[in-house]
Amino acid sequence: MTPLLGLVRVPGDKSIGHRACMLAALGDGRSTVRGLSGGGDNRSTRSALVALGVTQTRLDPETIGFEGVGLRGLRASDAPLDCGNSGTTLRLLMGILSGQTGRFVLTGDASLRRRPMKRVADCLRRLGADIALPEGDHAPVVVTGGSLTGATVEGAVASAQVKSAVLLAGLMGVGPTRYREPEDTRDHTERMLRALGVPLDRTSDGGWVVTPVVALPPRDWQVPGDPSSAAFFCAAAALVPGSEIRLPGVCLNPGRTGFLRVLARMGASVSVEDRETRDGEPVGTLVARSGPLRGVTIAPAEVPACIDELPLLALLAATAEGETRITGAAELRVKECDRIEAVARLLRDDGAEVEVLPDGWHLAGGHRPRGGFTAACHDDHRIALCAAILGRAAPRPIALDSPGAIDVSYPDFLLTLARLGGAAGDPRP
Ligand code: S3P
Repeated sequence: MTPLLGLVRVPGDKSIGHRACMLAALGDGRSTVRGLSGGGDNRSTRSALVALGVTQTRLDPETIGFEGVGLRGLRASDAPLDCGNSGTTLRLLMGILSGQTGRFVLTGDASLRRRPMKRVADCLRRLGADIALPEGDHAPVVVTGGSLTGATVEGAVASAQVKSAVLLAGLMGVGPTRYREPEDTRDHTERMLRALGVPLDRTSDGGWVVTPVVALPPRDWQVPGDPSSAAFFCAAAALVPGSEIRLPGVCLNPGRTGFLRVLARMGASVSVEDRETRDGEPVGTLVARSGPLRGVTIAPAEVPACIDELPLLALLAATAEGETRITGAAELRVKECDRIEAVARLLRDDGAEVEVLPDGWHLAGGHRPRGGFTAACHDDHRIALCAAILGRAAPRPIALDSPGAIDVSYPDFLLTLARLGGAAGDPRP
């Protein structure tokens, strides 16, 4: 196996990218967003905002200019807003549109239309939002904008999307809105609102309280590299002997770097250099090298900070020395696909021993990747990326049944993997 060697600039962080576009749209005047990912999910947010009346201009290959319409200035569109594959687009817009004027229908692709929306609607209704779910728990979602009151809201699930929808709606409430989540989740919305000068504080019970504002200022946002994308190269480097990959400018928000803490426990060699703070977010260079891995236990409390990387950690754990148990991750069943079943299928198709738990996996460890099959990716970018990494570590190639799914978060991934010496096989069926 040829080692993976070189430097990779991963796309802009998807979570921060969505929020930067939305906050730029709601600002008074021109904002810019630099380093935005060109992936399908961030494109979904941009096109929904165009449909809501927000003019955008590409200023250079890296930068989009947004003509902000003001906090309550989004315009209702006749056609449903297509959020594509992006849960963050749909759920955060539910919060923002609750305080606008007009009626908005939000929908998405087949995967997004299977994902739960009542968790967001229930919380926003506490602020007086008018939200209808004609299909039950799923999109399409009908939001009729109106005046919102401040409220105290308890989230039933640990979800940064639900929290963000409430805090963004809270900007337009009458009186403060408090939100408490069952576990801490990524705090990009909080950091970004504070960067805009919004009064947002922690409550004594570990929640957040946001005070409404009359307007949001424009700002030049710099989106750091996506740690969830960087994680795939850290995994590839760990698996392929002799590899060393440098990943500069990666967001190191502790709410996102749970995978680094787990990798350290597994004995992987990933170090951090050039630490700095950009736009309130810690950023640094990851240097990932190959090395043996050992099995670990990932406890429920650790899950929110590595929720999107758990499929990849399960893959690594399958190859590690010793057993791994991952629990408390039932949320994976309602992501872009049922990621617990999808990962088990991928690993079993490769010959690994995996026990599926209701909320995670038990992995026997000791698996040597084999390859030589077509992976079922379920049109889910993270499963397709896992299959590509597994294939790169195997002596025979793994074809992907839906390589196009990767476009959602990392359009150039397969090319980049090949450039690092990764052309081990044709990833298409
Ligand atoms: C995200 C939050 C997480 C994560 C998703 C992006 C966000 O979802 O899985 O990829 O940007 O807030 P949940 O909030 O549903 O856990």
